Amino acid sequence: MTRLDLTTPAAARQFFETKLRQRQVNKVLHSFPSPRFWTGGAGTPLEARPLGSDAPSCELYVALPFCLTTAPAHCGYCLFPTEAYSNQDQLDVYLDYLAREGELYRERWLELQPRSVFIGGGTPNLLKAHQYPRLLGLIHDLLPALPAATAVTLEGIPQLFSREKLEVMQAHGVTRISMGAQQLDHQLSLLSGRKQQPKHVFQAVEWAAALGLGCNVDLIFGWPQQTMAHLERDLRGLMASGVEHITHYELNVGGATDFALNRREELPGPELVRDMYHLARELLTAGGYEQLTPYDFQKPNRQEQGESFVYEECRRTFDAHDVWGWGYAAISDFPDHRGPRDSPDQPGQNGGSTLMNARTLTAYYAALDAGRLPTEVGYTRTPADLRLSLLFRNLQSLSVDRASYRANFGQDVLEEFPGIWQAAADLGFVTLHDDALRLTPEGAYRVPLIQTALMQARVEELTDAHVAGLKQARQQQAAFQPLQPASSPSAAPS
Ligand SMILES: C[S@@+](CC[C@H](N)C(=O)[O-])C[C@H]1O[C@@H](n2cnc3c(N)ncnc32)[C@H](O)[C@@H]1O
Ligand code: SF4
Repeated sequence: MTRLDLTTPAAARQFFETKLRQRQVNKVLHSFPSPRFWTGGAGTPLEARPLGSDAPSCELYVALPFCLTTAPAHCGYCLFPTEAYSNQDQLDVYLDYLAREGELYRERWLELQPRSVFIGGGTPNLLKAHQYPRLLGLIHDLLPALPAATAVTLEGIPQLFSREKLEVMQAHGVTRISMGAQQLDHQLSLLSGRKQQPKHVFQAVEWAAALGLGCNVDLIFGWPQQTMAHLERDLRGLMASGVEHITHYELNVGGATDFALNRREELPGPELVRDMYHLARELLTAGGYEQLTPYDFQKPNRQEQGESFVYEECRRTFDAHDVWGWGYAAISDFPDHRGPRDSPDQPGQNGGSTLMNARTLTAYYAALDAGRLPTEVGYTRTPADLRLSLLFRNLQSLSVDRASYRANFGQDVLEEFPGIWQAAADLGFVTLHDDALRLTPEGAYRVPLIQTALMQARVEELTDAHVAGLKQARQQQAAFQPLQPASSPSAAPS
């Protein structure tokens, strides 16, 4: 495979300029490297982790897999693993299995004090009101050291947040909800097959405020048929509701989704999507929202009350911070903290590890029935992988602290990728300072592109190794094929 060399500013600039003509793709949805390079089998990274090797800081992600079915499937755009919801019993069975998985961590989690808990999915607010005490009870039972004030967020879709559910959730420890609205224009929303109406979003925001629950609303821009006028109307309407946190994602188009296969022609082009990002950023900041990440905007008043938004916030530094994933398709991430991170680039040399639970319910249940951890795939990072993975998280904070990078990894981030940073500066994505690299507003929008450039060389190496592994497996398989006897009834007719 011919390699792209992005070490000079000219080569990196050419790379950026070619990509600027296309729609952006976010290749770091969950983690680096992508799960397509992770492998399965026995001896998962978690089993290899001795008790007591946990980082001093961590967060917990709890997954609920089910979603209402839509036509088109998966809301037309969603790439997350999910399972079709059919009835309430499914949820009870799932909670039984979640409890069984939790038992496998009980000993490890006795002292664990996650900085935040996020109950995501899927659609966790499919649970009926009487099922929240059970779910929250499982969490509190397994984490007896969880401080009472811990931020606990529960995600869901607008039409399934009833006032009764919000009251029960809150009574059992939920402090914040996160609602996927995506579009407030009903006609645009209908393209995804979702049945919600704008009034459901505003009603839930109002109930959350009345109860004193934190509230985030997710919107997506770059949607089929979306215009600047749609975007502006949605944002102004949402800001007028007083919601304190708005997450404004760029539509990631990919996989076998309806939007990728059937609505490409209706998608706004790259220039328009970029302009949408900047208009949104200007509207939100002018409306009193502070930009926390390329996509997160928050009103400062909640922080002043001492309730800072901690979910994922601690992931944006280079400090050792574990993520525990519990449930179907949940991802755990354990950046190693046991030694210096500037050791040679070998797997297992303080690069840490990441793993993902089973992505089908059948496999998730089967593993637990067999008394096994439900891990499906995992990956042991090299120090170079770890540097990239933590650099990508750090970029979410809109700047990279050079001294902190040097203290953690023994090198200067500017010297590690000189061509890319220089080209990014020349194109106005970053400003380079003695203490930090700072993203400009254009650079914040281009984070997925900057990440793609930074990971290019490593992804090429991993792809080569992946292809070589597949070839070897195919050769081994062929070598073990038994010869078919000439008279075999299954032999193809000649
Ligand atoms: C995994 S979903 C779960 C939330 C809930 N089920 C819902 O749909 O509202 C979390 C968020 O991811 C975002 N998301 C999902 N697929 C996306 C895509 N292809 N591009 C951009 N954002 C996406 C949406 O904003 C969604 O609210
Ligand atoms: S967007 Fe939300 S509701 Fe739709 S399929 Fe994805 S997780 Fe489920």
